[in-house]
Amino acid sequence: MAAAWRAEIVSGACSRGIRRKIREKISMENLLEIKHMRKAFDELEVLKDISLTVKKGEVVSVIGPSGSGKSTLLRCATLLEKMDGGSLSYLGETVCKPQQGDAGDSVYVSKKELKKFHRYFGLVFQNFNLFPHYSVLKNITDAPLRVAGIPKQEAQERARELLSQLGLEDKADAYPCQLSGGQQQRVSIARALALRPEILFFDEPTSALDPELTGEVLKVIRQLAQEHMTMIIVTHEMNFAKEVSDRIIFMENGLIQEEGTPEELFHSSKERVQEFIGKLSDG
Ligand SMILES: Nc1ncnc2c1ncn2[C@@H]1O[C@H](COP(=O)(O)OP(=O)(O)OP(=O)(O)O)[C@@H](O)[C@H]1O
Ligand SMILES: [Mg+2]
Repeated sequence: MAAAWRAEIVSGACSRGIRRKIREKISMENLLEIKHMRKAFDELEVLKDISLTVKKGEVVSVIGPSGSGKSTLLRCATLLEKMDGGSLSYLGETVCKPQQGDAGDSVYVSKKELKKFHRYFGLVFQNFNLFPHYSVLKNITDAPLRVAGIPKQEAQERARELLSQLGLEDKADAYPCQLSGGQQQRVSIARALALRPEILFFDEPTSALDPELTGEVLKVIRQLAQEHMTMIIVTHEMNFAKEVSDRIIFMENGLIQEEGTPEELFHSSKERVQEFIGKLSDG
């Protein structure tokens, strides 16, 4: 459905303000809904009470100091970790929810039912996480072939189409070790897009890259934003977050301490938010 309305929108450069107006006219369906998410590792309460709703086409950046729980939030949302309490749903379909009340212990749907949710999202990590012994093409087609049962020819055509969109058409047969960091990260973005997810999560996609390669990867993410891909991006690139995000979330101590448009965050009355943004913006 997202793809259908995305296709109707005139392609090309499109500012954040225009994107917001377009979205207001289209379905405002909640793609991702997190309510009162809690997660602890033994005694350490990493996520204390996180509620977050993301609508189709929204780009949300997550910022916050090291250890504030940003990766844990993404890992719980993408089913790499089980949350302890609260609820999680994609497109109104429940992944887990408390048996009683809003903030009780999470009860997950069956393993069989959980499987379908893996089709809803893609995840791009800081360190690319490509299979070193697979070619670029095989890295991208692995999940479509193995998990989704897509025919080989179709999976390969889709992979080549993505490689071409990301400026990597000549790298299909290369191995990850033969690519630059920026190219490897673009391959991992292609891999995440291969299953046509509804939402993409990025966990500090450029923090392992030098400034030039960072630019390459940010360009691709910018392009995805212009195509109205729904994204949640954990980043330390403040200027990029300001430019590309509809909303920025500041996390600290396992809580969302501030949430708003980039303008609101950059002019927050909270001293702590100002201090954090100031530090990152100074580079
Ligand atoms: N699997 C785990 N077992 C135990 N503790 C964990 C685990 N994963 C994360 N933690 C702890 O949870 C806290 C939050 O970690 P998380 O990786 O979510 O932070 P972050 O905000 O992503 O930080 P950074 O900006 O450094 O990536 C940290 O104190 C971390 O040590
Ligand atoms: Mg992290």
